[in-house]
Amino acid sequence: MHVHPYERTWMILSVVLLVLFAGALGVGSVYRGISLPGIAHDMSAHGHADPAVATTQGDGSTTAFVPGLREIAPLKYVADVKAYAWAFEPNEIRIPQGATVTFNLRSTDLIHGFMIIGTTVNLTAIPGHLGQATYTFDKPGEYLFVCHEYCGAGHHMMYGKVIVG
Ligand code: CUA
Repeated sequence: MHVHPYERTWMILSVVLLVLFAGALGVGSVYRGISLPGIAHDMSAHGHADPAVATTQGDGSTTAFVPGLREIAPLKYVADVKAYAWAFEPNEIRIPQGATVTFNLRSTDLIHGFMIIGTTVNLTAIPGHLGQATYTFDKPGEYLFVCHEYCGAGHHMMYGKVIVG
């Protein structure tokens, strides 16, 4: 089969680019530890995450993952949020204005999302991983949170709200 020299050049070039990009991806993930946003790698030494353990308190210490809200200091809260098909637990979080909340997110089944509209909180819940984000609610009001990773028939039913004030 005859391949035109120009065509051959482009074929070689595209293969070289593919190899380069794949290499960059490998270097990025293996040596630089780059991964999806909002995911803390909390795998144990055996390579499996403990299902219901180790949520971070915001002060660096860890405790059991218990869905719900708890106050750890004046105006400082930790919210352990469980995502499952198809709801969040808790689905209503009440805090005073000015509260800083560290959200710990875990999925017990599928990949879910957790986005609080109007804030910077935007996490992906991957089974076996702990998602974490902290936000200070300076403005009173109701903040809707939703699952923004399509997760099946009940995806649209996965929502809740943070009530501030
Ligand atoms: Cu959970 Cu979409």
